[in-house]
Amino acid sequence: MKKILLGAVAAIALCGSAYADTIKVGVIGPFSGPFAIQGKNFKAGIDAYMALNGSKVGDDDIQIVYRDVPQADPAQSKALAQELVVKEGVQYLAGFYFTPDAMAVTPLLKQGNVPMVVMNAATSAIITKSPLIVRTSFTTWQTSAPMAKVAKERGVKKVITVVSDYGPGVDSENAFKATFTAEGGEVVDSIRMPLSTNDFSPIMQRVKDSGADAVFAFLPSGPTTLGFVKAYNDNGLKKAGVQLLAPGDLTQESDLPALGEAAEGMLTTFHYAISHDSAENKKFVEAAHKAIGNPAELSFPSVGAYDGMHVIYKMIEATGGEQDAQKAVDAVKGLSWESPRGPVSIDPETRHMTQNIYLREVAKADDGTYYNKEIATFENQGDPGLAEVK
Ligand code: PHB
Repeated sequence: MKKILLGAVAAIALCGSAYADTIKVGVIGPFSGPFAIQGKNFKAGIDAYMALNGSKVGDDDIQIVYRDVPQADPAQSKALAQELVVKEGVQYLAGFYFTPDAMAVTPLLKQGNVPMVVMNAATSAIITKSPLIVRTSFTTWQTSAPMAKVAKERGVKKVITVVSDYGPGVDSENAFKATFTAEGGEVVDSIRMPLSTNDFSPIMQRVKDSGADAVFAFLPSGPTTLGFVKAYNDNGLKKAGVQLLAPGDLTQESDLPALGEAAEGMLTTFHYAISHDSAENKKFVEAAHKAIGNPAELSFPSVGAYDGMHVIYKMIEATGGEQDAQKAVDAVKGLSWESPRGPVSIDPETRHMTQNIYLREVAKADDGTYYNKEIATFENQGDPGLAEVK
């Protein structure tokens, strides 16, 4: 009898340690290649969160396992996610800069019993692909619709839209068109360009020829957006008085030193500016600057990752470290907290973030550097795009 009891105790202790000890979080993002700064921002946000909140939840050590997908590559993303779940034994999947990389992984979640925390990818429909997804970034519907209102308020009448031809671009175009038209504005033409486009001169010519008084544009942040804003200036559109309106992807802070004067005065709508004035953001920026090394490289994917870690820590707390994906996701439905970006919550129905969207203007600071200055707030915005895809 004594032997049996001792055996049982040993078995329980073993089980306990199998769950406890180390919980692995697999993070997929662009850590090399042209979008490496965006991946570096994922890592800075994660490091900042762990520096401020510790690398343990209860008794469990949290370990981050990174995998590099340099450009949108769904097959590579899926293969690496599979490897992370099966070989590395990660209990959580997170990161995902590009929509196609997130989409490709959604069929693995149920079978692997793994929640997915999307730290950037911004197409509304992603979240509908599995009940095990939570998003801590934004959608382009959420960030683009307010810009249509701003345009109307500021007297813009005719707009041409230009977007990258994939999920978040198409969503952004639809959001702007639907909202601007409902406000009484006119969209005179809509251009969708391949994601790989890097010569924007022919597009700028079409913008000129369209007779629009403004161009609304979305491209994924990175070398693409930098090239686009430069081309807008170099092709004389700014001089000609054609306004450039966009979600904040086009004026990410890490691009502002290179854009300089070319971006000054540009209006964007977005969920986060590094200049956001709050105690929570000061704390975050200080930790994230330390984590990233070069402060000029800090940009918005860091805040999606920071808040994503907050959600993962809450999930681990709620499951006591056990692997139960549904229980983990259920535990964060309705969760609300003060993010560096402002007050946020996870909508219990959609599992997407409800948050403020800010109107910002690129301004010159006293020290001669450029920043996104928040000038107005659209409070408590959900994702209008989900009504379209459901
Ligand atoms: C996306 O692929 O969903 C994406 C990438 C970069 C952005 C926005 C959206 O800036």
